[in-house]
Amino acid sequence: MEIMRGKQASFMDSSALAGRINGYNTIHIDIGTGDGRFVQHMAQADSSRFVIGIDACRENLQEGSRRAQSNTLFVIANAQALPTGLYGLATQITINFPWGSLLQGLLTDDVGLMFGLGALARPDAAFEVRLNGGALTEAGWSLEEGVQQIQNVLSANGFDMRPAQVMLANELKTFPTTWAKRIAFGRDPRAMMLRG
Ligand SMILES: C[S@@+](CC[C@H](N)C(=O)[O-])C[C@H]1O[C@@H](n2cnc3c(N)ncnc32)[C@H](O)[C@@H]1O
Repeated sequence: MEIMRGKQASFMDSSALAGRINGYNTIHIDIGTGDGRFVQHMAQADSSRFVIGIDACRENLQEGSRRAQSNTLFVIANAQALPTGLYGLATQITINFPWGSLLQGLLTDDVGLMFGLGALARPDAAFEVRLNGGALTEAGWSLEEGVQQIQNVLSANGFDMRPAQVMLANELKTFPTTWAKRIAFGRDPRAMMLRG
């Protein structure tokens, strides 16, 4: 799979990956990670956790991956074709404030995305998706209907989902991603979380 460190992209094979994650029981994979702020935060909060950030846009990954800690890795990949080298590794998967084809894939039950999400996860993996009103409006959905649609899609694909929860303004302001803050202080500060 293709990985990023600053402006430098390179390929990592499965034995190199095994070496990097050796000794870590908790592997968190964040899809559509953007600038990597969330990855850095989660990795700093618990050094026994290995955190992998995936994004399709290499420019987004440059800055965060330049300052990467030893328990982090940044992977360039499309969520609709997640790297097979990561299959079966994740104890936790997050998707925070998706837009574009990542959001479309969740809304339209994209086969590649759903297969990949299931393939990354260990059987008891925790899964969280945070969705915001503005992105869903742009995609042609109201927040409530879009969240319900994504919940239905995930449930139909074998994810054991709990009822959606509203993210309050204070939660958004303190949630450690760049987009959480943009949303919290923007024109449409509505967001919801799905957990399963
Ligand atoms: C609104 S940003 C959110 C970034 C970050 N999660 C945050 O909360 O700050 C959405 C991110 O999803 C990424 N993205 C969109 N479609 C994608 C896809 N199909 N595969 C991987 N990443 C994708 C974009 O490149 C962008 O970085």
